[in-house]
Amino acid sequence: MARKSLTSFVCQECGYDSPKFMGKCPECGQWNSFKEIRNVSVSSKSALSFDQTQNITPQPLGAITAKEKNRMSTTFSEMDGVLGGGIVGGSVILLAGDPGIGKSTLLLQTALQIANTNGKVLYISAEESVEQVTLRARRISSKHSQDFLLLSLTDTDVAALSISQTKPSLVIIDSIQAFASENAGGFSGAVSQIRYATAVFVKLAKTLGIPFVIVGHVTKEGMVAGPMVLSHMVDVVLFLEGEKATGTRILRSLKNRFGPVDEVGVFEMQGIGMQEVKNPTEHFLDSKDQNTPGSVLITTLEGTRAFLVELQALVITSRLPMPRRVASGVDAKRLELLLAVLQKHCRLPFDTMDVFVNVAGGLKIVDPAIDLGICLALLSSLKNIPLSRTVAIGEVGLLGELRMVPFLAKRTKQAKKLGFAKIISADQYTTLLQAIEVVQ
Ligand code: TYD
Ligand code: MG
Repeated sequence: MARKSLTSFVCQECGYDSPKFMGKCPECGQWNSFKEIRNVSVSSKSALSFDQTQNITPQPLGAITAKEKNRMSTTFSEMDGVLGGGIVGGSVILLAGDPGIGKSTLLLQTALQIANTNGKVLYISAEESVEQVTLRARRISSKHSQDFLLLSLTDTDVAALSISQTKPSLVIIDSIQAFASENAGGFSGAVSQIRYATAVFVKLAKTLGIPFVIVGHVTKEGMVAGPMVLSHMVDVVLFLEGEKATGTRILRSLKNRFGPVDEVGVFEMQGIGMQEVKNPTEHFLDSKDQNTPGSVLITTLEGTRAFLVELQALVITSRLPMPRRVASGVDAKRLELLLAVLQKHCRLPFDTMDVFVNVAGGLKIVDPAIDLGICLALLSSLKNIPLSRTVAIGEVGLLGELRMVPFLAKRTKQAKKLGFAKIISADQYTTLLQAIEVVQ
């Protein structure tokens, strides 16, 4: 077998590995991103020298007894739902999100609660001192179990040693980017270091059967530390998102080896940490003012749930040669397209108007079923027609036609359940013009 060379060159952006130096990475196109890395010895096993204790006889499906895995509740029902029923023993969960979005806060709360119910939880913070974490823990909750154990260090190998000595029921690593080891090349935060640390923790999780939750900050490009190097190494990838200015936080699962993906949990960041939103389907409704024109209710599907959300539009006469189109929470290009359809097929004079559209509660919606809602909110503001208790469901085509949307029955049911009887949807009208004429 050929000897592996002692060093290799690794792209610090995407982790591409090459035996020789390169100016430009063929994988991600980044310039000057290669660093020389000392290879950690990889023990090469020949086909004959395998571990004799391992069972290598293939088995038929019928002979395998697969039990549903034991799951540990996070005591947040919103988080358990996203995980598919709780944390599976020996699984590795990556919690990703923008810095400052509330990852540490959410995990600290989870750790404190699990320490009360399941025994020892080890929280290893590589970013904050134990004093800082303690102050935060005091702010969040007054009763602390003896089983909540804190450690502040950044050395991957020392952390691994402490974990195998402590043998807790759950380990929290905050954050993976801050860990470094002499056994891997580059500074802390480099792809090689992150990969090494993750490999060490994943191995520990599998050999000791302890679940790990690893925090990963999202980089500028929206990737988890060097294009998803982590996500294929772990079992579950969760994203915590939200606008910092608003308190709403959405926990989403992007990958889950033990449960559904696309499930969401809704939280709100408050002075005493993250609080679960018990009625998420009603959370985005702000029905204080029911008569001001410019507001319409829309439905959006998140996982298996339908949410009702308030959408607001403001339309005013423009003084600019290029009128303004400002969209927050909805796609700006989609807004442009809908304005063009309204202008062409419904003869509404949006070419001389400044237009602003906003989704209440800091939510970002990509569901095409909100098209009709955007159009009706724009019409409502333009013509001063109050529509704030109307629910609009439908996709709008380029020819001004209304299209059916998936799960219409589920969306309609949710609207009715929350007491909104006036629903305008794609199954009642075939064109946008017809729907608009009804409300005028
Ligand atoms: P943090 O959990 O440190 O974010 P991350 O780990 O994702 O970087 O959250 C930091 C923000 O949360 C900070 O701006 C303060 C705010 N915060 C609250 O509003 N309430 C709280 O109870 C706590 C602990 C933090
Ligand atoms: Mg943090």
